[in-house]
Amino acid sequence: TYVVTENCIRCKFMDCVEVCPVDCFYAGDNFLVINPDECIDCGVCEPECPAEAILPDSDNQATPWMEINAKYAAVWPNITRKGEAPADAEEWKDKPNKAALLSP
Ligand code: SF4
Ligand code: F3S
Repeated sequence: TYVVTENCIRCKFMDCVEVCPVDCFYAGDNFLVINPDECIDCGVCEPECPAEAILPDSDNQATPWMEINAKYAAVWPNITRKGEAPADAEEWKDKPNKAALLSP
């Protein structure tokens, strides 16, 4: 599966949802997740993310985010269309230590 990681927080560009062939993205207030049970590992979302937040589960940096993706995919609503990114999304891009800012 592919995994949405920390860089998505407060960026939430949503380019990823437009390309997913199985519509397996789920949206929180300031972060998106991938449902690991639905992702078919096609990889097309990875290069679409301007924040480079999407990683394959084989990447060590994805490991701490796998549980978070599974957990919120079960409770957040499905998203299939790109909405408006936060007004300050560009400012949050590449900012470190955003994990605590995730809105559940
Ligand atoms: Fe969707 Fe493919 Fe990305 Fe999985 S890897 S979330 S199936 S676009
Ligand atoms: Fe997040 Fe990147 Fe998608 S910032 S919403 S994973 S395009």
